[in-house]
Amino acid sequence: MSDKKQGDDGYQHDQVLSHAFDGIEEYNNRLPNWWLFTLYASIIFAFGYWLYYETFVVGPGQEAAYEQVMQKAAEAELARASAGGLNDESLLMMAGMPDKVAEGAQIFKTYCVACHLEKGQGSVGPNLTDEFWIHGPKPMNIHETVTNGVLAKGMPQWGLQLGPKRVEAVVSFVLTIKNTQVPGKPPQGERHAAEDTAPEDSEAPAGDAPGGDA
Ligand code: HEC
Repeated sequence: MSDKKQGDDGYQHDQVLSHAFDGIEEYNNRLPNWWLFTLYASIIFAFGYWLYYETFVVGPGQEAAYEQVMQKAAEAELARASAGGLNDESLLMMAGMPDKVAEGAQIFKTYCVACHLEKGQGSVGPNLTDEFWIHGPKPMNIHETVTNGVLAKGMPQWGLQLGPKRVEAVVSFVLTIKNTQVPGKPPQGERHAAEDTAPEDSEAPAGDAPGGDA
């Protein structure tokens, strides 16, 4: 064939291969260097990627990265919700954040179990898991009771001792045990069915809000 030329690289330049697809023919040319470079670079990258994420697990996996993003988003949402000060909605959001609730559970164990017992079922203090509340069932009611206490009745004032962040955490925890109906001290105060205890302008029933698996 007249269109054969021997190049420096040993390939036959401009040699048309014998096959054709829909009239499209193919030259038997050497693959361009830039193309080969991207091929080899991606193979090397794949090794590095595999070692980084799978073998030595240096980088966060998909799930950890997802968790981080969700955590950030939850914090941003919380900041937005409590922009005008703490409210029912922001307390309920905290009750859905595992870190907050875990911190609150720890605080509850340290400071509250003496009177409310480990599941909140009550002894000196009332049962915090039933539908009956002396000082109101809403997140802000609970926050208020915990912050200022009911000194005349033997509920200490926790605001100064714990500080605002830890009060928020322990209230978040109390919201997760609320309405779990642990048998314990008989009801005190007024009955508030779960759906009455949601914040005024919330559409979701309160029972849905706290993360129950804390
Ligand atoms: C020294 C005992 C004692 C300790 C410790 C204690 N409480 Fe209480 N708590 C009480 C008593 C008593 C009441 C009931 C007050 C009343 O009758 O008005 C109460 C009431 C409450 C209420 C309101 C319940 C309702 O029905 O309205 C909440 C919420 C509460 N406590 C949370 C906590 C938390 C959270 C802690 C820990 C930071 C804590 N308490 C520690 C004794 C205690």
